[in-house]
Amino acid sequence: MAVDQLNLDNAHARIQAADSLDALESLRVALLGKQGVLTAELKRLGGLSPEQRKQQGEAINRLKGEVGHALAVRREVLEAEVLARRLATERVDVTLPGRDAGVGGLHPVSRALERITDIFARFGYDVAEGPEVEDDWHNFEALNFPPDHPARAMHDTFYFPDGRLLRTHTSPVQIRAMAGRQPPLRLIAPGKVYRSDSDQTHSPMFHQVEGLVVGEGITLADLKGTLAAFLRGFFERDFEMRFKPTYFPFVEPGADVVIRWQLPDGGSRWLEVLGAGMVHPAVLRNCGIDPERYSGFAFGMGVERLAMLRYGVTDLRAFFENDVRFLGQFR
Ligand code: FA5
Repeated sequence: MAVDQLNLDNAHARIQAADSLDALESLRVALLGKQGVLTAELKRLGGLSPEQRKQQGEAINRLKGEVGHALAVRREVLEAEVLARRLATERVDVTLPGRDAGVGGLHPVSRALERITDIFARFGYDVAEGPEVEDDWHNFEALNFPPDHPARAMHDTFYFPDGRLLRTHTSPVQIRAMAGRQPPLRLIAPGKVYRSDSDQTHSPMFHQVEGLVVGEGITLADLKGTLAAFLRGFFERDFEMRFKPTYFPFVEPGADVVIRWQLPDGGSRWLEVLGAGMVHPAVLRNCGIDPERYSGFAFGMGVERLAMLRYGVTDLRAFFENDVRFLGQFR
């Protein structure tokens, strides 16, 4: 196409007809781009006489300028339209009332743990900690579970290939607290424990709070009084409480502590809430404490079990599913 045939009106009309920024861009490429009409004309100048080249060149360049200007003007119009459309659709109504930010709350297990630690802090107990990855000595052997002792089978233990394990209870913290220290000792040890166990009332990871008191003249009556005061504080009511003799290798005598729980239908049933007993002399000896001089008591409670009773939760797994409709009830 020769330049004189390049109809500027036609180019103008096409620019005006471009109804989107994309269409305008395609048009710009077709007119001014590397493969565009005007570029092709410029390339052809080489074959002309110097006189013609000068004339043609000027004409093409003027045309380029005009087309470029027309494109820029049209672009501004189209951009203004796009902006106007966005402003219309994304308009913010500043008169609408604000939306409430969700207010979080403590997980019921954390709340129960806080209640338990608060109560024992008021009784003057220290808080101790131990590792979740334990060795056989602390989790079993020092607690008077000899190798191959059948009581080990009651703990469905997760083992690592090197013989270490995930602690199955918080009782190993008793050993860590007593090793290298002499009584008096009065502490609780809250934390996570692990067992290969899962159903409505058992979870593979759960929380326990261990308690340990060692001193001169500590008796079963001290244990009973402490637990009665704790349970009254935790549930904010009075119950009948009983010690049911049971076997834990690290205490003698040992007991499951049961309370009489009122049911909504007016009846009641005995519920096990924790394990407890007098620290076995062999355990004291394993930690370098003289059992002739000192005695002690220990207890271990399942935090989820206590939280289920306190908050009326019937399935332990609800604590771990993290359904916000469930968690929201504890704010
Ligand atoms: C023990 O773990 C003893 N170490 C407790 C103890 C400490 C006794 C000191 C004497 C002196 P047991 O296996 O019964 O005992 O567990 C204690 C509590 O943990 C139970 O009463 C129960 O409330 C809770 N529990 C046990 N297994 C699970 C589980 N899989 N999921 C949730 N809670 C559990």
